[in-house]
Amino acid sequence: PVRAVERMARDEPDSLEALNAVIARSEPLVPGATQAVLGEGPIGASIAFVGEQPGDQEDRQGRPFVGPAGQLLSRALDEAGIDRSQAYLTNAVKHFKFSLRGKRRIHEKPTAGEVSHYRWWLDRELDFVGPKLVVALGATAVLALTGKQIPITRARGPAAFGRPFGGFITVHPSYLLRLPDAAKEEAYRAFVADLRRVHDLAR
Ligand code: URA
Repeated sequence: PVRAVERMARDEPDSLEALNAVIARSEPLVPGATQAVLGEGPIGASIAFVGEQPGDQEDRQGRPFVGPAGQLLSRALDEAGIDRSQAYLTNAVKHFKFSLRGKRRIHEKPTAGEVSHYRWWLDRELDFVGPKLVVALGATAVLALTGKQIPITRARGPAAFGRPFGGFITVHPSYLLRLPDAAKEEAYRAFVADLRRVHDLAR
């Protein structure tokens, strides 16, 4: 126990900035990523969104949710009356993991072990941001926030993450992009409806 306390005194970041400096210096658990993608948004944001991991565009640009899924999220937030610039956006895993198909970098889902490796950061990050409500976008975020594998279809809606903030579970925007065209519109409407509830809950 003494050693744990000493280690905390030495290494424990005392601000989001200090935490981000640690994350930015860290090596990806799985080699390949260009850089760590840090969370983005104001400290004290009332809503924090947690995604899975940065995608190809996020890895190149160093910002969360700037690729196709991020653009869909932005549009849905806008329709739900949530100002993206006033929300905090981050990911369960901070480095892009992919396999190469020719020159294309194909996203690979992080394993439960990888998610747990990054959990320490996510927990500290959310402590520093201090949101009123944390929204898990998809199953990886749910795993990071609860330690459990829970199917989204069953858990969708308000949730308790056993933390000093409220929780809400919904789908990941990249799931909407992968749906067949015939199912897209309805699923998108349901996502926007979830975000409207999020907006109300975080008031
Ligand atoms: N998907 C995520 O989960 N996070 C991002 O930042 C981009 C896409």
